[in-house]
Amino acid sequence: MSLRCVILDGSVRQTRQGIKAARFVVEQLARRGHTTTLVDPLERPLPLLDRMYKEYPKGEAPAILEALAETYRRADAFVIVSGEYNNGIPPALKNLLDHFLEEYFFRPSAIVCYSAGAFGGVRAAMQLRMTLGELGMPSIPSIFPIPHVQDAFDDRGAAKQPVFEQRIGRFLDELEMVRQGAPPKAGAGDALLSRGAPQNRTSGSSTEISTKYGAAWWIVSSATGMSASVSFAGTGCPVGFVATASP
Ligand SMILES: Cc1cc2nc3c(=O)[nH]c(=O)nc-3n(C[C@H](O)[C@H](O)[C@H](O)COP(=O)(O)O)c2cc1C
Repeated sequence: MSLRCVILDGSVRQTRQGIKAARFVVEQLARRGHTTTLVDPLERPLPLLDRMYKEYPKGEAPAILEALAETYRRADAFVIVSGEYNNGIPPALKNLLDHFLEEYFFRPSAIVCYSAGAFGGVRAAMQLRMTLGELGMPSIPSIFPIPHVQDAFDDRGAAKQPVFEQRIGRFLDELEMVRQGAPPKAGAGDALLSRGAPQNRTSGSSTEISTKYGAAWWIVSSATGMSASVSFAGTGCPVGFVATASP
C-alpha cells in the first residue's frame, strides 16, 4: 500500500547536518513505493509563531500556511527528523510544528533523531514523543537514532555505512504496520487509568498492560501522565491524555 508521507526537517542552521538524514529517509520511503513531501523550514520560512493557521479566518491565512495545511491534511503518515539542541528539540522544529494542530489528526508519526555525539539525539526524541502525542500524531514505538550524523551521509543523503539501510527497513516496516492498523487484542480500550474511575482501574507495568490489552488509546489523569506517555509509546500502546493536576 502506497502511503503519502510527509517528512518534517527541524533545522535551519547554515551548516546543518540533519537535512542529509531527512534526504536519506525520503529516498528510503520512495524506494518502498511511497510518495514523499519534504518540509524544509529553510525553504519554507515560517514566521516565529504569532497566529496558528486555524486562527486565521477561512481563506485569509498566508499562502505558505495554506499550502502546508493542505499537505498535512492529505498525509497518511509523518516522519519527524529532529536534532538535539541542549537535550531538547530544535526551535525551528517546534515552530514548524506549532503552527498547526487539527491538520495532523489522526495519523501516525515516526521519529528520526540525530546528534553529533554518540547518543543520536534520543533525549530530544523523548520530548518529541510528548509533543507529537498532543498534536494528534502519536509516534510509533521505535525511534531511529543517528549518532555522529556529520559522518553518516553524503550531501544527497546516501548512507556511508550499510547499517543505516539495514536498520531503516525495520523502522519503516513498523510505520507501515501502524498506519495500516495492527489488529486489536481482546479487551483493547477497556482499561482506563484514572483516579476518577476506580471500577476500570488497572495496574501493572506499561509492558504488562499493553501486552494484555494490545493497541488502545488510554486516558491518564494526574501529572504522572506526561512520563507515562513516553513509556507507553515505546510499548506500541499510544496514550491519549486527559491530564489533571494531582490532588
Ligand atoms: C544550540 C545547539 C545545542 C546542541 N546541543 C546538543 C545536545 O544537547 N546534545 C547533543 O548530542 N548535541 C548537541 N548539539 C550538537 C548537535 O547534535 C549537532 O550540531 C547537530 O549537527 C545539530 O543538528 P543540525 O546540524 O541539523 O542543526 C547542539 C548543537 C547546537 C547548535
